[in-house]
Amino acid sequence: MSRLHVVSGKGGTGKTTVAAALALALATEGRRTLLVEVEGRQGIAQVFETEALPYEERKIAVAPGPDGASAGDAARGGRRPGEVHALAIDAERALLDYLQMFYKLGSAGRALKKLGAIDFATTIAPGLRDVLLTGKACEAVRRKDKQGRYVYDAVVMDAPPTGRITRFLNVNDEVAGLAKMGPIHNQAQAVMRVLKSPETAVHMVTLLEEMPVQETADGIAELRAAGLPVGGVVINMTRPAVLGTGDLDIAARGARAGVAKALSQAGLGGARRGGLAERLIDPLLEQAREHAERVDLERAEHAELTALGLPTYELELLPEGVDLAGLYRLARELRRQGPI
Ligand SMILES: Nc1ncnc2c1ncn2[C@@H]1O[C@H](COP(=O)(O)OP(=O)(O)OP(=O)(O)O)[C@@H](O)[C@H]1O
Ligand SMILES: [Mg+2]
Repeated sequence: MSRLHVVSGKGGTGKTTVAAALALALATEGRRTLLVEVEGRQGIAQVFETEALPYEERKIAVAPGPDGASAGDAARGGRRPGEVHALAIDAERALLDYLQMFYKLGSAGRALKKLGAIDFATTIAPGLRDVLLTGKACEAVRRKDKQGRYVYDAVVMDAPPTGRITRFLNVNDEVAGLAKMGPIHNQAQAVMRVLKSPETAVHMVTLLEEMPVQETADGIAELRAAGLPVGGVVINMTRPAVLGTGDLDIAARGARAGVAKALSQAGLGGARRGGLAERLIDPLLEQAREHAERVDLERAEHAELTALGLPTYELELLPEGVDLAGLYRLARELRRQGPI
């Protein structure tokens, strides 16, 4: 089973939301997960409705008990509820960690910061930023306590979008190639070992729309070509079909007679000229036709995603948006749909 879950997808499709729901879903029965954010936008704090996160791992939520029992119930039943911890990685601080790790440059690192060297390194060399971010995430994946047990059962990363994900995850390959040996080479190789192993799974979030589905297919092809392990596809914000197959057919054909009959059955009178039903028919037909078209398009996009041959998960559009209760609902939904 994967221990590092990387969540990518087209911008705005729900990467941050799905990553948070997944971290909750994986944190059950005493399991502890770490939700990591790398874009410096405080997205995790927003979904969990808390203040901005410092660069420090902290408990952010308690997971629901098994079979939907509340955390309190689980605790009273003698079962330890799961915990979600969160970390917003700050590239600048990660660079200090990095320097300290290899060169024991603790105070010299702080001096470097005063000189603006870190500004230089983090803004001029964007690749270096990615080295630090992936390095920090992999460190959390590999970290063990004194008893030799993993500190986190799973790490979930709210990752960069599809267009940048392969390069982002592969940056340490480039580093390992540049530094042929020594500590930097070894560190880069250790990170790539984690990222290319079955311990890692890169999941794609998509909507049932043409552009995100296309990006998902392209992104998966790119990940596969780079030898990175692809996990599942999360279809987010799905909408229920309002009409059954037969009605959709009628809607698509714009069958006036069928609608007139339904209106009269609903007590809205016959299709008298100028009557209420007469005035309702055309707008209704138009709406129904649009709906039928959308359902058709969604079916085609769904088929394209299925053809990728990956496990898929579906999360419905929550009409009120995703508040904390909604987030727990999405987490339960992910768990219900099987291991991810
Ligand atoms: N299943 C859902 N139902 C309703 N609203 C949703 C759902 N999933 C996500 N959203 C909403 O959609 C918006 C975008 O979600 P989110 O921020 O998670 O996307 P993102 O892919 O991380 O975006 P970005 O590319 O900007 O990082 C948010 O307002 C979020 O609350
Ligand atoms: Mg986001």
